[in-house]
Amino acid sequence: MTEITTDKLIQYSENLTDITQDQFTQFVQDAKALISTAQNPQDLQNIRVTLTGKKSHLTTWSKQLGGLDADGKKTIGGMLHQVRTQINDSLQQAQSDLDAKALAAKLASESIDITLPARGQQAGNLHPVTMTAERMQGFFRQAGFEVATGPEVESDYYNFEALNIPSHHPARAMHDTFYFEKQHFNANYVLRTHTSSVQIRTMEKGNLPIRIICPGRVYRNDSDQTHSPMFHQLEGLYVSESTNFAELKGLIHEFLQAFFGRKLTVRFRPSYFPFTEPSAEVDILADTYAGGGKWLEVMGCGMVHPKVLSDSGIDPTKYQGFAFGMGIERFAMLYYGVNDLRLFYQNDVRFLKQFA
Ligand code: PHE
Repeated sequence: MTEITTDKLIQYSENLTDITQDQFTQFVQDAKALISTAQNPQDLQNIRVTLTGKKSHLTTWSKQLGGLDADGKKTIGGMLHQVRTQINDSLQQAQSDLDAKALAAKLASESIDITLPARGQQAGNLHPVTMTAERMQGFFRQAGFEVATGPEVESDYYNFEALNIPSHHPARAMHDTFYFEKQHFNANYVLRTHTSSVQIRTMEKGNLPIRIICPGRVYRNDSDQTHSPMFHQLEGLYVSESTNFAELKGLIHEFLQAFFGRKLTVRFRPSYFPFTEPSAEVDILADTYAGGGKWLEVMGCGMVHPKVLSDSGIDPTKYQGFAFGMGIERFAMLYYGVNDLRLFYQNDVRFLKQFA
């Protein structure tokens, strides 16, 4: 608390009749000087008591007014009244100054800097693999294909056997399969290595003609810059009495140009899959994509093998089908120019938000 100097006030006589007009004026000035020293409400309260309390000059002097004659009452009383009024006004002013100061300090301590730029909203966006899958599906839906799904934990029968890949078949080695321990099931189960199992499940239902696509997760025991143990494929199957290889070529060519949004040089390269005959791998000629001038393999396809049709209960002398399958991540990498597949699974927002 600030020390209050009352020395100056002590010098004034306690006897009212000793005080001159000039001294009253001086007294008011000294009182104001004292009031101005108040730093906080407590200081001011102490000063108020000193100036106007029971033991103050003002009180002492006022008590003597009654003993004056009418003239004295009028003149000295008038002066004393002015002194009291001025001191009270000054105290009140000081009080409101202190209040204002306190309010300003409180506001300053609680202030919010509204000039700071706002953080903005962090809107999420779809994963690039999801967006790629949707872009692919968009094309095939327009071409009349319906979306079909199947289980990711698949029996050996649907994943291999029914697709003309018997247990001794070397094609199984290409698949690096994750097997389930046999005692958990009464048949052999695997994590599906491709979406082709959905072909069989759909054909078994026998609602012909069939025109489906199946996007979904598949699993292979393989991991590097371009392979992940889990990835996505999009399968297509078209079975009708007139389906033929020329339609397959036309559809795939159209799809690739629609997906990449420009004219492309596409090549069907003879290949082998146990469940299609003839089979082909589809390549596109890289231009502006990484490795310009190189052929990039983008999918497998072929005419559904007659044995696969008949094993699924479809008469191969009446019906024919074509099928195709492609890796969704592969398309995402080509479309967005991503060179490391693993980036898709690291959940790094700095990577993911570039696709917003
Ligand atoms: N299932 C094959 C694979 O995973 C792709 C494929 C699908 C090939 C349909 C031909 C027909 O490699």
